[in-house]
Amino acid sequence: MDLIDGMMANHGTLRGSLIFLGALLDRPCGCGWDDLRVIDQDSLARELNGFMDAFKRHEALEAEYVESVLKTRQADRELTETVSTGHRAVEDLARIFGAVASSGDGEHVHRLRTVLERLTDEVETHLAFEERVVFPLLRARLSHAELLELGRRALSH
Ligand SMILES: [Fe+2]
Ligand SMILES: [Fe+2]
Repeated sequence: MDLIDGMMANHGTLRGSLIFLGALLDRPCGCGWDDLRVIDQDSLARELNGFMDAFKRHEALEAEYVESVLKTRQADRELTETVSTGHRAVEDLARIFGAVASSGDGEHVHRLRTVLERLTDEVETHLAFEERVVFPLLRARLSHAELLELGRRALSH
């Protein structure tokens, strides 16, 4: 698997984790503040921790194998800033989601859904930027053999 295929597989894992978080907050009845869903807070905390760990591992790989390539050209440096800003925004929102989740009693999850929607938007914006702008640029900059070698190193972590 080359580096970009590996990064795309990571993106799939992150998207799946957000879908699972959404399923844990599914709405069986009511709406808004009328919503009396009681959530399993342990499962929610476990999945959120899993998402944050996976995101940080992915971020570290991108810092080592993606941003390092982009930084070699002045014209591409702005892209690394955008990628880093996206990582910070996602981590900030994930922390806010965790704080809201742990401050509640498992009831009235409307506010949690609202924060999860924002987190999902932020993650999707970031992943789409990488997939539409950053990864195609990497494919243009590096040979297939180089991408395979970087993938071998990155994915053996
Ligand atoms: Fe990223
Ligand atoms: Fe990524």
